[in-house]
Amino acid sequence: MKINIFSKFLNYLYMYLLIFLFGVICKANEKTIIMGTSADFPPFEYLQKSEIVGIDVEIAKEIAREQNSELKIKDMSFNSVLTEVINGSVDMGISGITKTEERAKKVDFSDNYFTASQKAMVKNNSDIKSVKDIKDKKIGVQLGTTGDYYCTDKKLGNMVRYDKYTDAVSALSNEIIDVLVLDGFTADQIAKKNKDFYVIPENITEESYCIAVQKGRKDLLESINKVISEMKQNGKLNQIVESYMSSSTSDSSGEFDSKFTSKEYFEYISKGLIVTLKITFFATIIGIALGVLAASLRIISNSNKKLKILGVLVNFYTTVIRGTPVIVQLFIIYYIALSGISKNPIIAAVVTLGINSGAYVCEHIRAGIQSISKGQFEAGKSLSLSEKTLMSKIIIPQAIKNTLPSLAGEAISLLKETAVVGFIGVMDLSLAGKKITSVTFDPVFPLFTVASIYLVLVVSLTFILNKIERKIKNASN
Ligand code: ARG
Repeated sequence: MKINIFSKFLNYLYMYLLIFLFGVICKANEKTIIMGTSADFPPFEYLQKSEIVGIDVEIAKEIAREQNSELKIKDMSFNSVLTEVINGSVDMGISGITKTEERAKKVDFSDNYFTASQKAMVKNNSDIKSVKDIKDKKIGVQLGTTGDYYCTDKKLGNMVRYDKYTDAVSALSNEIIDVLVLDGFTADQIAKKNKDFYVIPENITEESYCIAVQKGRKDLLESINKVISEMKQNGKLNQIVESYMSSSTSDSSGEFDSKFTSKEYFEYISKGLIVTLKITFFATIIGIALGVLAASLRIISNSNKKLKILGVLVNFYTTVIRGTPVIVQLFIIYYIALSGISKNPIIAAVVTLGINSGAYVCEHIRAGIQSISKGQFEAGKSLSLSEKTLMSKIIIPQAIKNTLPSLAGEAISLLKETAVVGFIGVMDLSLAGKKITSVTFDPVFPLFTVASIYLVLVVSLTFILNKIERKIKNASN
């Protein structure tokens, strides 16, 4: 009876999982064009309330129109933009990307749409007056940008590399770094808004912004170039640049506007929370299914010499997964293993956390079996029970009971571990908190809010799991 209910429950779970995957695949088939960007870069791409706007977004809209597609914007750290273009997770990288020789080996670049430079930005009271003074200072850059390359090549000072410019700007504002090397146009916009900063007028480099596409996507590149040349000719590009320059000086809104209404706040947090819960739910199911499967294979291989290889494979799986950081597993699954199948980062997150959790579940079950005294095995054998009956009627039910507390612990740590998904651009609860801090520059309130929500979730989950555990134990006594 109990087994019946359990298998019904499993069936429902598998059904939900299939529907979820099906939904995601159907969505992926609509005609869309995806722009990869790092929305921390006014006036090219930045958050205005909860929307990404900027010069690059306007250009992307024109390209989408030309392509008859719906524009989707995927926000990520700048360092991931080109990687996602290369593996095809996004169709075009538009993020104030400077064309360099090295990058051009990996992606194709469109014609230039903006002439740029790197500059140094300091605090007003700084003793750094010109670029040559930055040599031995604490220099902040955005990871993987031309500013980073320049300072690294020249072996300048102590470098601190930030994922997002907004974090680097906060660091400069709090004097954690002495100088920030960044794109000149962006630096000027920031300094216009924040009178604490001064941009040294000297250009450190001369650069040119272009749009990046995956190598070989000739048609797309041609249509992008067509749009750029039309926008240059009919003056639209200039108009857009000018309108963004004046809008960011008139203190209208945007990345550096610290006002964030409570409605937007709530929207970010609640959307993030739903994503976190979804990922936890599906990853837990995959984790339990895989863990039980792996543990069963191990048991089978122990009782049958011919199937020893299965045990070896299971060992390999649990050793690799438990011996490598989950974030690295996430990158491997998203950027390599799934790149030809699905570009959806949520699927990659669910698969990674599911596989990861499966290894731990398998080990918990093994520990549960090992905790059963040898006498029970011997008693079973002396009653001449078959291996199958001994395992399924005596050992496994007890093992499950012994394993329950650690399985509950596993579900709880999985919930907290979902926070790694922010690294591939999934806007979960943690990233939502981070995002709010990047708009308001106030880390305290959003991060405490997020921490409190995790705490409430963990405490409630612990409570529910304890109840279930007690019920199962009572039922089997
Ligand atoms: N132009 C620089 C580069 O290509 C930095 C661009 C940063 N863009 C951004 N959206 N954060 O390396």
